[in-house]
Amino acid sequence: DVIDVRDLLAEGFFTYDPGFVATAACESGITYIDGGEGVLLHRGYPIAQLANNSNFVELSYLLLFGELPSKEEYVNFEKTIRNHTMVHEQLANFFKGFRRDAHPMAILCGVVGGLAAFYHDNLDITKEEERRVSAIRLIAKMPTLAAMCHKYNIGQPFNYPRNDLNYAENFLYMMFGNPCEEYKINPVFAKAMDRIFMLHADHEQNASTSTVRLAGSTGANPFACISAGIAALWGPAHGGANEAVLNMLDEIGDDSEENIQRFVDRAKDKDDPFRLMGFGHRVYRNFDPRAKVMKETCDQVLGELGMADDPQLKIAKRLEQIALEDDYFIERQLYPNVDFYSGIILKAIGVPANMFTVVFAVSRTIGWISHWNEMISTGYRIGRPRQLYTGHTQRDYPEKN
Ligand code: ACO
Repeated sequence: DVIDVRDLLAEGFFTYDPGFVATAACESGITYIDGGEGVLLHRGYPIAQLANNSNFVELSYLLLFGELPSKEEYVNFEKTIRNHTMVHEQLANFFKGFRRDAHPMAILCGVVGGLAAFYHDNLDITKEEERRVSAIRLIAKMPTLAAMCHKYNIGQPFNYPRNDLNYAENFLYMMFGNPCEEYKINPVFAKAMDRIFMLHADHEQNASTSTVRLAGSTGANPFACISAGIAALWGPAHGGANEAVLNMLDEIGDDSEENIQRFVDRAKDKDDPFRLMGFGHRVYRNFDPRAKVMKETCDQVLGELGMADDPQLKIAKRLEQIALEDDYFIERQLYPNVDFYSGIILKAIGVPANMFTVVFAVSRTIGWISHWNEMISTGYRIGRPRQLYTGHTQRDYPEKN
C-alpha cells in the first residue's frame, strides 16, 4: 500500500524515515526490483536474460531511451559512443595535481566533476538533445578517465582510446596496454568485463543514484552530479564492498572450516564492527539475482583461465555455504550480493583491488545519467528532506563582561 503524504500535508502530517526504508522519493520507469522474490528488471527485461543475450552498450541504450534499439539504432549509438571516448587534452593536467598514490576513486571524483568545466556554459539541460549528448559523453569518457586513474597510480603514460575496439575491450586496452608491447585482447576477459558492466548498470534508487537525483534536482551541471554519485558509491556499504570483499578473503586466509567459522562468528557478534562484506542488501530479502549471474561468470572465467582452484574462490564458496546454513543469516535474510564474486573476477582479469569501485562507477554511470535524464524530463521538485530537530530550544547568547 502506498500513502501519498502530499495529500496529508495540510493536516500537518510528517513522516520520519531514517535511511528511507519506506519512502519513495520519485516515480521511475527504469528499473523494477522485487526484493522478496529476487527479481530485477530493466525496462521490464529480467537481468539474467539481458546478461546472457545483450551487451553493455545495448543495455545503456535501453536504460536511457526505454526500448531496445533496432539494428540501425544500435550501430549509430555505438558509433557515437566510440566517437566520444577521448577526453580534452587539458584534463590530463588535472591528474598531475594528485599524489601518485591517491585512491583512484578520489581522483575520479575530481576529474569527472572537472568535466563540468568543459561542458557547462553552453549546456541547456531543458533541451532533450543536450541531455542526450551529455549522457553519451559520460558513458563514452568514463572508461577513459577510469583507466587514466590507474595509469597515473602506476606511473605509466595514459593510453588514448582505440575506436576499433568495443567498449569493454577498449577499457582493458586503456588499463593494461603500454607503448612497449602489443596488447592482445583476451576475449574471456572482455566478455567478463562487459558482464560486470551490465550487472552493475542500474539498481533504481540506491544511495549513489539518489545522490545524483538530489544534486540534479537543484538544476546542477550533470557532470558535477555524477561526481556526487561517485562520492556516494565509494563507501564500503555501497560500491566499496567489492574491494572490501577481497580484503576480507585475504584476511580470512584459508578455507579451513574453523577459520571461516571464526569470521562468521565475528560477523554475528554485535560488539564487533566486522560484517561479512558482500553479504546483505537493503532491498533483497531473498537472493540478489545479479549475484547468481556473477557467480556463474566467476566460475566460467576462472575455469577458462585454469584457475578453478583459486584459493580466494574456494574461501568465498565455503564462506557462502557456511553463512547460508547459519541461523543468524537465515533469520535476517542475508544472502551474497552482486559484489561477493565480482572482486574475484576482476582480480583474475588483473584489475587491482583499489580499482574495483572505479569499475563499478564506470558501469553505474549509465544508471545515474538515465535517472537524471528521467527526472529532468518528467518534472521534479528540489529534493529537500526534513528533519526531527533534537537540539537546544531557544536560549540567549551569554552576556560578555
Ligand atoms: N554481516 C553481518 N550482519 C549483517 C550484515 C553483514 N554483511 N548485513 C546486515 N547484517 C545484520 C545487521 O547487523 C542487522 O542485524 P540486527 O537486526 O541484529 O541489528 C540486520 O542484519 C539488518 O541489517 P541492516 O544493517 O539493518 O541492513 P541495511 O539494509 O541497513 O544494510 C547493507 C544493508 C548496508 C548492504 C548491509 O547488509 C551491509 O553492510 N552489508 C555489507 C556491505 C556490502 O556488501 N555492501 C554492498 C551492498 S550491494 C551494493 O551496494 C552494490
